[in-house]
Amino acid sequence: MLNSSRGRSQTRPTRSAPFAVMEPDHKKKSNIVGKILMVVGLTALCIIMLNKSPSLSTPTHFSRHEEGVTHVLVTGGAGYIGSHAALRLLKENYRVTIVDNLSRGNMAAVNILQKLHPQPGRLQFIYADLGDAKAVDKIFSENAFDAVMHFAAVAYVGESTMDPLRYYHNITSNTLTVLKSMAAHRVPTLIYSSTCATYGEPEKMPITEGTPQASCKHFPINPYGKAKKMAEDMILDFSKNSNMAIMILRYFNVIGSDLEGRLGEAPRPELRDQGRISGACFDAARGIVPGIKLRGTDYKTQDGTCIRDYIDVTDLVDAHVKALQHAKARNVGIYNVGTGKGRSVKEFVEACKKATGVNIKVEYLPRRPGDYAEVFSDPSKIRRELNWTARYTDLEESLEIAWRWQKVHRDGYNSP
Ligand SMILES: NC(=O)c1ccc[n+]([C@@H]2O[C@H](COP(=O)([O-])OP(=O)(O)OC[C@H]3O[C@@H](n4cnc5c(N)ncnc54)[C@H](O)[C@@H]3O)[C@@H](O)[C@H]2O)c1
Ligand SMILES: *[C@@H]1O[C@H](CO)[C@@H](O)[C@H](O)[C@H]1NC(C)=O
Ligand SMILES: *[C@@H]1O[C@H](CO)[C@@H](O)[C@H](O)[C@H]1NC(C)=O
Ligand SMILES: *[C@@H]1O[C@H](CO)[C@@H](O)[C@H](O)[C@H]1NC(C)=O
Repeated sequence: MLNSSRGRSQTRPTRSAPFAVMEPDHKKKSNIVGKILMVVGLTALCIIMLNKSPSLSTPTHFSRHEEGVTHVLVTGGAGYIGSHAALRLLKENYRVTIVDNLSRGNMAAVNILQKLHPQPGRLQFIYADLGDAKAVDKIFSENAFDAVMHFAAVAYVGESTMDPLRYYHNITSNTLTVLKSMAAHRVPTLIYSSTCATYGEPEKMPITEGTPQASCKHFPINPYGKAKKMAEDMILDFSKNSNMAIMILRYFNVIGSDLEGRLGEAPRPELRDQGRISGACFDAARGIVPGIKLRGTDYKTQDGTCIRDYIDVTDLVDAHVKALQHAKARNVGIYNVGTGKGRSVKEFVEACKKATGVNIKVEYLPRRPGDYAEVFSDPSKIRRELNWTARYTDLEESLEIAWRWQKVHRDGYNSP
């Protein structure tokens, strides 16, 4: 702030310099012009400083609770799932604040949301790092949130084994920061993005919420799953002596994109190798990579490839809205969010070929260490308790919708 105001006052003298070298009979006039400019400049500076000072600024839509309006803080709202969630919340007339440091997300996604909902008090974007506890607390003190949907995280299993501290920092530690600020500022509701990775590789399928986490003997749970599990544990311990309404959603493998093609999944190109199977399929279909590498064909599954449960982002976001609506004070709800159906990697690739119309080249490679053979959910608890059920369970259809966006966004959100 200081820097920018200093910058402004410095530009004044240099700007008025041309007047000083004017012809003599213009000198008087130019002096007056200079003085006027000076006054205008100083006034502008005062206004800028007043606006930046929180104690003096007038309250905004975002800083006051409003009867009948639910104000949701969406952390990681510039990312894949967070942007889709913000879009749905805005459509349902929630007030939304997105906090993201754009380390992985896309500002262009936020701009799209802002264009769709330009009215005052609908959406604001705050650029901040959740690792900065002071900045986070300032955000909570200046805004009146009714709920937090905490999506911001790093979320690549492979990367987590290479750089575990990055995961404990950006998942566990940052969740602690958010939780502390929520408690200090009495924000009543938290919806937490967790993952089926917290279960490791259980012996029994399907996975229910009662399946023990990290019980596996053969494959240790990866740092990503552990960091999320630790965050869950923190939240659960905290909940025992708190009035907060908490919902923990454990997603399975998320695919798809906005049905109307406004948003998509656009991870950083440098994360391509770490990437998820849908991204890999689309990259192959677009010819960005020569083909898809299928790792492991000797698992004890029907066709030898891994089995996963693919949940469409439209359904996932719907689960968040239902979780928010059903959240109860002094209660924790833990739910699997999946379709309940396992699909093999081979099946996925076939669906991707059909959806894209491209005969994607497939290369068969040995297993990748740490991959689990089979993971799929039992989603009956969330159906029973939140009346939520997956509706977009046709893989090919979900991929077709995502492909429509991918096709016209060869360069992600940077595409013209
Ligand atoms: N994609 C999946 O299949 C999947 C599955 C299970 C759970 N999840 C969880 O869903 C959530 C969202 O995942 P996604 O796929 O949308 O990921 P994403 O990378 O697209 O989005 C994460 C967002 O968080 C932001 N972020 C990261 N660290 C930050 C920080 N320190 N400060 C501020 N912002 C920060 C990033 O800039 C990014 O916009 C994550 O918590 C992830 O663990 C995802
Ligand atoms: C985002 O936050 C991380 C800490 O979580 C920080 O190290 C990084 O520099 C930030 N990135 C940007 C672009 O601000
Ligand atoms: C995560 O944390 C590390 C510090 O361990 C930091 O360097 C990094 O920039 C953070 N953010 C992301 C997106 O990885
Ligand atoms: C459950 O959801 C269905 C479909 O969305 C809806 O028709 C039905 O009314 C809901 N039931 C309850 C009890 O809310």
